[in-house]
Amino acid sequence: MIRIPNCARIAFCAALICIAAAPRLASAQSVAQTPPMGWNSWNYFAEKVDDKGVRAAADALVASGMRDAGYIYVNIDDTWEGERDADGVIHSNAKFPDMKALADYVHSKGLKLGIYSSPGPKTCAGYEGSLGHEEQDARTYAAWGIDYLKYDLCSYIPAVMEKQAPSDKAAQMRLMQSAYEKMGRALKATGRPIVYSLCQYGWDAVWEWGPKVGANLWRTTGDIQPNMYSIYANMSMQAGLEDFAGPGHWNDPDMLEVGNGDLTLAENRAHFSMWAMLAAPLLAGNDLTRMKPEIRAILTNPDVIAIDQDPLGRPAVRAYSSGQVEVWTRPLSGGATAIAILNIGDSRYSTHPFHLNLVRLGLHGPQKAKDLWSGKEIELSDGMPLEMEIHDVLLLRISHPR
Ligand code: GAL
Repeated sequence: MIRIPNCARIAFCAALICIAAAPRLASAQSVAQTPPMGWNSWNYFAEKVDDKGVRAAADALVASGMRDAGYIYVNIDDTWEGERDADGVIHSNAKFPDMKALADYVHSKGLKLGIYSSPGPKTCAGYEGSLGHEEQDARTYAAWGIDYLKYDLCSYIPAVMEKQAPSDKAAQMRLMQSAYEKMGRALKATGRPIVYSLCQYGWDAVWEWGPKVGANLWRTTGDIQPNMYSIYANMSMQAGLEDFAGPGHWNDPDMLEVGNGDLTLAENRAHFSMWAMLAAPLLAGNDLTRMKPEIRAILTNPDVIAIDQDPLGRPAVRAYSSGQVEVWTRPLSGGATAIAILNIGDSRYSTHPFHLNLVRLGLHGPQKAKDLWSGKEIELSDGMPLEMEIHDVLLLRISHPR
């Protein structure tokens, strides 16, 4: 029989008491323990989003198997906002006749509903923002059944920061932080678990203070576009930010463009692989109702999603680059490792070939790995040649690295 020392027993019992007493606190804090997954209207629909389109997206999440793969949040971005009434209560505009009914519909599908606002008087698209109505708006969102808020700086810059502190950048940044803190507190006060997503393009090293204002994720970059330059730029800006993310608080290099624009299949694969490596939120931004099977297959690859959602929550680091090939590694729970080898050069058809340096990854001798896109087991050896077409990626998982 294993003897448990008394002190350990006390600690064990104390832990049990804590677990038993915790649920109320935990329910307000346990959102986004892994990077949020879902869909957002902006990248494809922009201002054309409406109630019908959001219901169709929710239906498509279910029908495509994406919900069951983990895509839970259905996020309405900018342009849903209507006028405030005489009491200052915000109403949705004609595109969204009944937000509560929409939330009920989305919830009935086993999904959650997200919404968008700004700390300024206007959103980026010129609709009503939350300035001066933060607590009231948070209560309205909670009453509607909202589960996620993206809060976008927009007009707060000219209307408050530049106006109140015209030539004092430091004071402007303090104003910005206090605006985000205000909404963070307002959301908490509702008692409803609402994921809090900051969108201020990474200003003032948001990753350093995001958790303090109650954020679950924060944009670290400007807006993504459906081309490899933009995807690569946003991805590169995550190098060095890995220590700032973890369960409950994530770096956000912006929503997915998988399936949008003219991205090739290789580029879609590379984009999705790198977002998974970075422990980025996986918010699909395409038209789910007209998604090609090969795009669906990328977005629902269970092995790649498992990298993104790994419970350890440690984002990848850029281990090394050589020529136009970059090698990123991500530590996973249980001692496993993920490796992404990305051919970023845009003027050559392939890596013809690239020679993998295992020693630079801290690995010694041959390694058994799984290629997460082909599903095949392969053996890695030091210096082995790897052939990847333009903008493609090799994504590997090593369960027992040596
Ligand atoms: C931008 C934001 C985009 C989108 C847009 C809506 O500031 O970065 O993701 O939300 O506003 O107007």
